[in-house]
Amino acid sequence: MKKILVTGGSGYIGSHTVVELQNAGYEPIIIDKLSNSTEAVVDRIERISGKRPAFEKVDCCDLEATEAVFKKYGDIEAIIHFAAYKAVGESCSIPLDYYRNNLVSLINLLTLMPKYGVKGIVFSSSCTVYGQPEIVPVNEKSPIVPANCPYGNTKQICEEIIRDTIASGSPIKSILLRYFNPIGAHPSSLIGELPNGVPLNLVPYITQTAIGIRKELSVFGDDYNTRDGSCIRDYIDVVDLAKAHVLAIGRMLDKETEKVEVFNLGTGNGTTVLELVKGFEEATGVKLNYRIVGRRAGDVEQVYADCTKANEVLGWKAETPLSETLLNAWKWQLKLRDEGIM
Ligand code: UD1
Repeated sequence: MKKILVTGGSGYIGSHTVVELQNAGYEPIIIDKLSNSTEAVVDRIERISGKRPAFEKVDCCDLEATEAVFKKYGDIEAIIHFAAYKAVGESCSIPLDYYRNNLVSLINLLTLMPKYGVKGIVFSSSCTVYGQPEIVPVNEKSPIVPANCPYGNTKQICEEIIRDTIASGSPIKSILLRYFNPIGAHPSSLIGELPNGVPLNLVPYITQTAIGIRKELSVFGDDYNTRDGSCIRDYIDVVDLAKAHVLAIGRMLDKETEKVEVFNLGTGNGTTVLELVKGFEEATGVKLNYRIVGRRAGDVEQVYADCTKANEVLGWKAETPLSETLLNAWKWQLKLRDEGIM
């Protein structure tokens, strides 16, 4: 079985990807410093797949500790690098923490890879690199624009660090995956997103409002130039997204390809905030308390993916209907209440 090191593997997207790697016959090894997740996630992964993934509580910014993991497991074939800080607003207040954490961890992995014969790295990037694209849907050739926050900048710089390292002759390959808006939870309701404190992302805020943890959802703006005035995003099911990582690993390891490849991962459909709210109410039968307020600073008006390349080259397509994804997000919120977690 091919060993795949999954940094941030107990986090939201990481945990779903570990399950899909196991389903596909890989042996994932999780490394996570647990800054935004707990080791209980490893038990839950085991409950879903029947297989317990190896777990190491290690910070990838710690070069020695990370190297010890490479030594301990030997013959790691590839890495999926999720471990990163990801809150846009927070990154503006503590930029150095963001730059240190997100850049140093990647630099350490890239340093260790050739030494231990690790062949490739799949990197979690974001559609934030496109800013507000002139043309939507946005494809991979769309220009990268200056980031509007340190978080977004770390994604751009990490992409460049990978390209520069490979251009310098490092014997590795990479696939950069630019996620649109990942939402939902595993259909088993055993893993999902666990926001720290007040959620900043739309869907966790919706589910927490629906269950009564929050009083009402603020819809940030209805005066955008869109069909109903609210912002448009491309909401992609987290399990569909996880499956793309498995395909990326297979492609990177088993096919003759360019050394660096980029794929957009979304559904190809733009959904407005108000459509998402309505979709949630319809899918769950729960009425949502919401109010239109002013725009949120830094939001782009509309961005959704042209996924033609992922469809044709990676052989991946988002499959889960939005209503099912929203229902899974709701079932996960109910589960968190039932288990007294939130
Ligand atoms: C943001 C980042 C993205 C990052 C992602 C992860 C930008 C432009 N994008 O995505 O790079 O990867 O977070 O955290 O900064 N909304 C409400 N009410 C709420 C919350 C959100 O109306 O309480 C609206 C927002 O205005 C937006 C949409 O819902 O139109 C989605 O927001 P959110 O879930 O925060 O994701 P993005 O801002 O798209």
